[in-house]
Amino acid sequence: MITAAITAVGHYAPEKVVPNSHFESYLDTTDEWIFSRTGIRERRYLEEGATSDLATEAARKTLAMRGIGPEEVDLIIVATVTPDMFFPSTASLVQYKLGARNAWGFDLSGACSGFLYALATGVQFIQAGTYKKVLVIGADKMTAITDMQDRNTCILFGDGGAAVLLEPGEEEGYGVIDWVNYTDGSGMEALHMKAGGSLRPATVETVQDKMHYITQDGKAVFKVAVVGMADVSVEIMNRNNLSSENIAWLVPHQANMRIIQSTADRMGLPMERVMVNIDRYGNTTAATIPSCLAEYHADGRLKRGDNIVLASFGAGYTWGASLIRWSI
Ligand code: UT7
Repeated sequence: MITAAITAVGHYAPEKVVPNSHFESYLDTTDEWIFSRTGIRERRYLEEGATSDLATEAARKTLAMRGIGPEEVDLIIVATVTPDMFFPSTASLVQYKLGARNAWGFDLSGACSGFLYALATGVQFIQAGTYKKVLVIGADKMTAITDMQDRNTCILFGDGGAAVLLEPGEEEGYGVIDWVNYTDGSGMEALHMKAGGSLRPATVETVQDKMHYITQDGKAVFKVAVVGMADVSVEIMNRNNLSSENIAWLVPHQANMRIIQSTADRMGLPMERVMVNIDRYGNTTAATIPSCLAEYHADGRLKRGDNIVLASFGAGYTWGASLIRWSI
């Protein structure tokens, strides 16, 4: 069987750095509260442009790393909950901005698990022998849907984009080995955006009532995320007969340091083997996992042959894990 391997990675973080002290200046909050409850010290904001710009920059870096031109890409999948617009898709805009004239593409809505959903989707096209080069991108401009007056949510999120290139694996045993994804729509109430969709189209009232922003019951999401992300990580270890010694890295969705730590604990992994960048970027939704891959690969900590478990939990609820033997 053809395996799908990640052959390049790229991450784009917008330039503007927003430290926790920014929120201290106008909200009833402190740097100490934010860091101790979440692990976040600062995040990045995109000042001009939209999600397609974050995605395109990440894709450019990924193709540059691989040393190929955009015309070689067959398919572009963009995981996002902050598309530039409802239609056309953000993937269409990325295809155009990138100059990927031979590619088609589509968006995928999986919130914080969007990247893992998109990865599993891209893998199918490679494994089936349909395509040779699939760009899988996670990108979100979370500031577009964040109420900056709501201290419960505004401190959590940032903007970012990151991408991987999937190609047929050249060596047996390397690449995406396994994945498992779940959805449970009964979690809708705990984390959603109330208006702007077909259920409640935009009106003067929906704007006045601040219904176009993230609504989150943080405590409720926290409780299920702690269990869900750990369970699915242990599940993928068990069904591949892996113990913690055989895993080089956990690559968790970066929503809360305490959720990350409890997942690592359940897997029996010390924090030295957990990828973390939440301190510098906050929660960038679909971009968190590939951004970790790009950073740890770039600085040499993620090495060829490493077994890594990617894990996520987010709105939907959506959750999942992927097992990869790193091939670059
Ligand atoms: O990626 C998508 C999935 N999302 C997640 O995984 C997020 C999951 N949830 C969380 O990460 C955490 O629940 C939060 C970080 C959002 C909140 O942490 P918490 O420890 O669950 O705090 P809490 O919601 O229980 O709030 C504790 C207190 C409350 O005050 P009272 O009711 O005890 O008087 C909040 O009003 O902290 C208050 N609070 C704040 N205080 C200072 C909430 N936000 C802030 C703030 N600064 N920014």
